[in-house]
Amino acid sequence: MKAESRMKRTWFRGMARFLGCGLVAVAACARADFQGATHLMPFDEETLAYSKSPDTSSVARLQKRIDAGEVTLKKDARFGYLLSVLEALGVPRASQMLVFSKTSFQRDRIAPSTPRALYYNDGVYIGYVAGSPLLEVSAVDAKLGAVFYTMEQKETAKPRFVRTDNCTECHASAKTMGVPGHLVRSFQTDESGMVDLLTGVDFVNHRTALADRWGGWYVTGTHGAQLHRGNLIGKDAFDRQLTQPNHSGNVTDLGRFIDTGRYPEPGSDIVALMVMEHQTHMHNFITRLAYEAKIQLSAYGHANYLKSATEAFVKYLLFAEEAPLVAPIRGRADFAANFSKAGPRDRRGRSLRDFDLNTRLFKYPCSYLVYSDSFDALPDPVKEKLYRRIYEILTGRDDTDAYARLTPSMRREILEILADTKPSLPSYWRQSVRESARKD
Ligand code: HEC
Repeated sequence: MKAESRMKRTWFRGMARFLGCGLVAVAACARADFQGATHLMPFDEETLAYSKSPDTSSVARLQKRIDAGEVTLKKDARFGYLLSVLEALGVPRASQMLVFSKTSFQRDRIAPSTPRALYYNDGVYIGYVAGSPLLEVSAVDAKLGAVFYTMEQKETAKPRFVRTDNCTECHASAKTMGVPGHLVRSFQTDESGMVDLLTGVDFVNHRTALADRWGGWYVTGTHGAQLHRGNLIGKDAFDRQLTQPNHSGNVTDLGRFIDTGRYPEPGSDIVALMVMEHQTHMHNFITRLAYEAKIQLSAYGHANYLKSATEAFVKYLLFAEEAPLVAPIRGRADFAANFSKAGPRDRRGRSLRDFDLNTRLFKYPCSYLVYSDSFDALPDPVKEKLYRRIYEILTGRDDTDAYARLTPSMRREILEILADTKPSLPSYWRQSVRESARKD
C-alpha cells in the first residue's frame, strides 16, 4: 500500500473511532432505542462481496455517459462542478441542507461560519464543502446499498466519480444499521462546531422527537412552538433555550449565522431535512434486510428466520412510530412542490409523496421508497412476506396497537394508491381493492 493511502486509512480509522463508530461501540449502540439489529454485517465476505461488486447506481450510470462523451460537466468559478453534478443527477438545489458540526471527514473545513452543504434526491446524496478539493457522494445501489465516491474539483475534460471504500469507516457502523449506509446525527456543539459526544443521537430518523433533532445543523422554516436543537451554537445558546425557548427557532434567514452568498441556496430547509431523515434510514433498512436475507438464503435456502426484522421494517415503512407533530411545519414551497411532483399518482390524483406537515410528515404514511429499485431488488421470499404483512395491516386484518396510528381510512387510501401505482404487487391486493370498491 502506498504511504499516502496508508496514512489516509489510518486517519479515517482514527476519525471513525473519535466519532464512536468503531466496533467497540456496536454492542452499546445495539441496545439503543431501536427495533432492528445493528451489528456490523460481513459485507466484504463472499456472499455479499460489497467492495468487489461493480455498482450500478445513478452515479455509475452518469460516469458511463461522461466517459462516452454524452454528458459534459461544467465547472463554475464559485462552486466547481457542484451545480453541474446536481443537474446531471437530477438533484434539486432546493434540497440544500447545511451542517456545521465537525462530524464528517472534512471536519477541518467545517465550522458554524462554513457549514457543509448536502443535497439529495431519492437515490443520491451530494456533499459540498466550500474551498474543498473534493465533492463527496453517497449513492444508492439497488443490490449493494450505499456506494461512495469522491470527485475532484480540479478542471478536467472528463471529471471522474471515484468509488472509494474509505468512507465505510464511518458509513458502515452501528449508526448505519451495520451496513454501508447513510448517516444523520444530532449533537450539541461548541462555538467551533466540535461535538459533545455525550449528547449524540444515534439514529436521527422519522421516529426521533423533533426536540432531539438537528444539533449541529442549520434549519430554516417554521415549526410553531416545537423545540429543536438546530441553529444552536455553543453552550450558551443551548442554555438560553431553557429560558427563551426557540430563540433560534422559526428562522427563515440564516444571514445572522453565515454568509449565505457562499452557497447555491440561502437556506437549510426543514422539510428537506425531515424527508432526508426518513429516507436515509429507510435506505439503510432496505440494505440491512437485503443483506440478512442473502446470507440466510445462502446458508439455509430460506429466509424464515427474518420475522422480527421484517416486522420492524414494516413498522418503519408505514411510519408506525413516527414522532408526532404538534404544530405545522413549513419550509420552502419549491422543495415540497418538486418532491411531491416526482411520484406516481393514483386515478384519484393521490400520491405517497403528498405532504401533511400538520400532524405528521406525509399524508399517506407509507414510504415512497416502496417504488425504489432497492425495494424491488429485495429477494422474492422477503418481498412476499413484506407484501403479506402490509396487506394484513392495510386491510385491517391486523388491527393490533402497533399500527393504531393508521386510521381505517388511511389504511384504505394507502391500499388503493398502491394497488393503482405499483404494478408488481401480488394479485390478491388488486382483487381485494376491486371487491371492496364493489361493496361501496
Ligand atoms: C469521520 C466519519 C466520516 C467519514 C470518514 C465519512 N463520513 Fe460522510 N458523513 C459522516 C456523518 C457524521 C454524516 C452526517 C452528516 C454530518 O454530520 O455531516 C455524513 C454524511 C454524508 C453524506 C450525506 C448523506 C449520507 O450518506 O449520510 C454524504 C454524501 C457523505 N457523508 C459522503 C461521504 C464520503 C463520500 C466519504 C468518503 C470519502 C465520507 N462521507 C466519509 C461521517 C463521515
